[in-house]
Amino acid sequence: MSPLNVDPTPFGDPTHRAAERLRCASRVTVVTGAGVSAASGVPTFRGEDGLWCNFRVEELATAEAFARDPRLVWEWYEWRRNTIAACAPNRAHEVVAQWSHRYPKFTLITQNVDGLHERADTANVVRFHGSIWELSCWERCAASPTRWRDETVPFPALPPRCLDCGGLARPGVVWFGEAIDADVLERSFATLDCDVCLVVGTSGVVYPAAGLADEARRRGAFAIEINPEPTEATQRFDLAIPGKAEVVLDELERMLAAK
Ligand code: OAD
Repeated sequence: MSPLNVDPTPFGDPTHRAAERLRCASRVTVVTGAGVSAASGVPTFRGEDGLWCNFRVEELATAEAFARDPRLVWEWYEWRRNTIAACAPNRAHEVVAQWSHRYPKFTLITQNVDGLHERADTANVVRFHGSIWELSCWERCAASPTRWRDETVPFPALPPRCLDCGGLARPGVVWFGEAIDADVLERSFATLDCDVCLVVGTSGVVYPAAGLADEARRRGAFAIEINPEPTEATQRFDLAIPGKAEVVLDELERMLAAK
């Protein structure tokens, strides 16, 4: 440090280094998790506000839990839908949306089911874990579409019903133990041939999403993580920026705009 306590080599700063990479990139893939929506007021799954009525996400987001007690599982989703309906996209969503319209090749792969990236007008979104605003028939009845949109908050009665057969409806999200849609996987993996893969606000413990950056890196991408806490994946990145998504992405965008 200089006597003025100013770092004389700003390019050693991880945010500056990330900005340099992003400046030269034309193919950018961003992977997001719940931390991106934290500043909007959407509770994350793990960490301090991760519990709902003393249940962990792994105890509610499974087909077994739904089969056992569909009402309980729907009460949790109803609570999340109510919370999300009152939330607005934050600066992190805005910056990602701007980039999605600026880079020649840009894809956002989001694990978030809240729809806030879409509400911020992000182009080219792959919803890795589905959408909380979609439902599907639990019985997979032949009459109903695979998924249908329903933004009713709150539902007049729980659990909601299939539009066609009247049986139980389930949230249109991917639960633990369920496979990611083949088309979603294919679209996601096709975008991992990129210059920069930026992973923002995810604990990196849920696979296959947690392996996307590893694969991008294997294919030659420069992989960057943004998270205020170290994660299980931090060591596997080329660069880790310790900080909040809404702050770091704003800084990056200002650096990119400055040149
Ligand atoms: P988690 O709740 O596991 O992790 C959230 C991460 O966000 C943590 O690593 C926090 O440190 C970080 N974080 C908190 N505030 C942040 C901020 N302001 N900026 C940036 N990061 C912040 O959420 P996910 O990793 O998204 O699946 O969870 C993965 C999947 O597990 C979810 O998609 C969900 C759940 O089962 C489905 O809903 C299908």
